[in-house]
Amino acid sequence: MERTFAIIKPDAVAKKATGPILDRIEKEGFGILGMRLVHMSRADAEGFYAVHRERPFFGDLVNFMSSGPAVVLALEADRAIARWREVIGATNPEQAADGTIRKQYATDIEKNAVHGSDAPETAAVEIAYWFRDVELV
Ligand code: RTP
Ligand code: MG
Repeated sequence: MERTFAIIKPDAVAKKATGPILDRIEKEGFGILGMRLVHMSRADAEGFYAVHRERPFFGDLVNFMSSGPAVVLALEADRAIARWREVIGATNPEQAADGTIRKQYATDIEKNAVHGSDAPETAAVEIAYWFRDVELV
């Protein structure tokens, strides 16, 4: 079993897509180890996406991620990291495959509904950023 970290981003929560996305997570066979509704501060978002701080879209991304409530999730499955990235689809919803969460719920390349870790190291860091050990079942 492998762990990954996911976010239902503020655009998807505002669209009332939290329920459908959680349903999809369970139907795809992921176990939910941790889950919390959060309203990120700018500092939370800057720290979480620090890897992108030199990118031109960083300021907009921080504004967006701190714009409203989001759901943070620690997930578990066989090949969880790669499988969750497959289920969410490409960063830009115009390039996301049919049937992916971003194809269905994303607005644009920034407001793209969900996050997924990209490697085991980042998954571990991202889970620890949002959850204490006792919050993971
Ligand atoms: P994520 O980390 O959120 O799962 O997304 P990702 O791996 O598919 O994409 P990444 O390159 O890590 O970008 C992180 C998030 O930044 C926003 N973004 N905006 N305006 C733009 O050109 C742009 N590019 C990326 C998106 O919210 C993206 O998910
Ligand atoms: Mg990423």
